[in-house]
Amino acid sequence: MAKSLFIKTYGCQMNVYDSNRMTDILAPLGYEASSTPDGADMVILNTCHIREKAAEKVFSELGRLRFLKEAKQEAGENMILAVAGCVAQAEGDEIVRRAPYVDMVFGPQTYHRLPEMVARASRQAGVVLDTDFPVESKFDHMPNTASVENSTAFLTIQEGCDKFCTFCVVPYTRGTEFSRPVAEVLDEARRLRDAGAREITLLGQNVNAYHGAVAGGSERGPERGPERGLGDLIRDLAEIDGIERLRYTTSYPAEVDDALIEAHRDVPELMPFLHLPVQSGSDRVLSAMNRRHDSGQYRDLVERLRAARPDIGLSSDFIVGFPGETEKDFEQSMDLIRDIGFLQAFSFKYSPRPGTPAASMPNQVEEADKSRRLAALQALLVEQQVQFNKSCIGNDMPVLLEKFGRHDGQLVGRSPYMQAVHVQAPADLLGSIVSLRIDGSGENSLSATAIDTKPSDTTSGAARMMA
Ligand code: 5AD
Ligand code: SF4
Repeated sequence: MAKSLFIKTYGCQMNVYDSNRMTDILAPLGYEASSTPDGADMVILNTCHIREKAAEKVFSELGRLRFLKEAKQEAGENMILAVAGCVAQAEGDEIVRRAPYVDMVFGPQTYHRLPEMVARASRQAGVVLDTDFPVESKFDHMPNTASVENSTAFLTIQEGCDKFCTFCVVPYTRGTEFSRPVAEVLDEARRLRDAGAREITLLGQNVNAYHGAVAGGSERGPERGPERGLGDLIRDLAEIDGIERLRYTTSYPAEVDDALIEAHRDVPELMPFLHLPVQSGSDRVLSAMNRRHDSGQYRDLVERLRAARPDIGLSSDFIVGFPGETEKDFEQSMDLIRDIGFLQAFSFKYSPRPGTPAASMPNQVEEADKSRRLAALQALLVEQQVQFNKSCIGNDMPVLLEKFGRHDGQLVGRSPYMQAVHVQAPADLLGSIVSLRIDGSGENSLSATAIDTKPSDTTSGAARMMA
C-alpha cells in the first residue's frame, strides 16, 4: 500500500536536489511524495545550518510535528520523523537529546542509506543516528530517476568545501570536496533532458572546484587527461541535444580558471549570469575571513569575465558586521558594489556559528551596527537591481516559459539573468524558449508584450542578448 512522505526543505538549492533524491530513494519502498505533513507516514526535515536560528527553527517545527506523530500513534499507525541535512550533521546529538521522539537523524552524505535506516527505525526502539562521512559515495547508490520541474532541473556535480572561510559551517557539515565522474554527470544530464529539462543548473558548494574523473574519453572524442574541470564539462554538456541552457552555482572566485572564462566566451548555452560571492570589499576583512582573494583580484576577475562575455551579469553574497569590520571596511564593500554593479545579490548580517574560528574572534560587531549596515547595503543593491531591470525595457530577451502565471492566460518564464518574466501567451508555449519584447519592469520581475505565436515560430535559447 502506498505510504505518504512529506519533506520540508530549508536552505540552498543543493538541499532541494537532495530532497528530490531522497524522494527517489524512498519510492521503491512505497513512499509517495505528499504536500502536507498531516497524516504522513514519514516526515523529513531537510535542514540548513548556514546562519543562526536554524537549529531553533528545526526544534520548533519538531515540536509541532510531535503532535501529528502522536495523533497517528493514537490511530494505531506510525509516523517516522527524520531530521536530515546540515543541522542533523552539526547537531545530531543535541537533536537526539532534546527531541527523543525523532526516529532518524542523518547527515547530507548518508541519504543513500535511507532504506536501511527506515528498516532499522521500524525495528528498533530509539533513534537511528547516521552522521558519518562514508567512504562510499551516495551518488553510486542512487536510483537513476530524474526530477524535472517546469523544464528546468538541478544536477549536483560537486559537493563539499575545503576552503574553510572562518565564518562558515559548510566544510564541517558537507565534508571535503568531491567531484562526480564526468560520465556519471553526462548520463544524469541526458536523463534530465529525456524527462523534459531544457535548462540544467549544475550545483556544488564550490562548483568551480569541479575536477571530475574522465574514463574512456568523452563525447568530444579521445580523453584529454584524467580529469576535467568545469569549463570542459560545460562544453560536453552543451553538446547534448535538447539542453539549451546551462547555469552553475555557487562559485569560489579564486578558483575561476581560464577554461571557465573561455567557456563563457564560447558556449552560447551557458547563460551570461554568474553568482560569484565576494563577501566583502575590504581586504582586511577578506583576509580575516580566509577568503584567499582580495578585492583587487575580484575586480580583475570580473574584468576578465566581462572581456570574454560582455553581456555577463553578476550576482554576489555579502556579509556585513564580520568581527572587526569598521565603518571604513564597510564603506569599501559599498564602493565595490558601486564599481562593479550587480544585477542582484544576497546579503546577510554576520552570524557566529559555533565551532567556526570567527565565532571566537574579538571585536564582534554590535547588532545595531550590523542592522544599519545591512539596510544601507541592501538599499544600494536594490537600487542597482531596479536599475538593471529598467534597462531591459525595449530589449528582446530569450525567455524559457516555465509555468502558468497567477492571471488567466499568463505564463511566467526566466530571462538569461534569472529575472521572472510575465507574459500573456498561449499555454502550448510552456517549456519553450521564446524571444520576448520587454515592456515593463519592477524590483523582482519583468513583463513582456503579449504573443500569440505557435511554438514553431520561437527562437532557440542560444540567442544572445546584450544588456
Ligand atoms: N553569517 C552570515 N552569513 C553567512 N554565510 C555563510 N555563513 C555565514 C555566517 N556565519 C553567507 C555567505 C555565503 C552564503 C551562502 O551565506 O555570504 O556565501
Ligand atoms: Fe563556506 Fe567559504 Fe566553502 Fe563557500 S567557500 S562553502 S563560504 S567555506
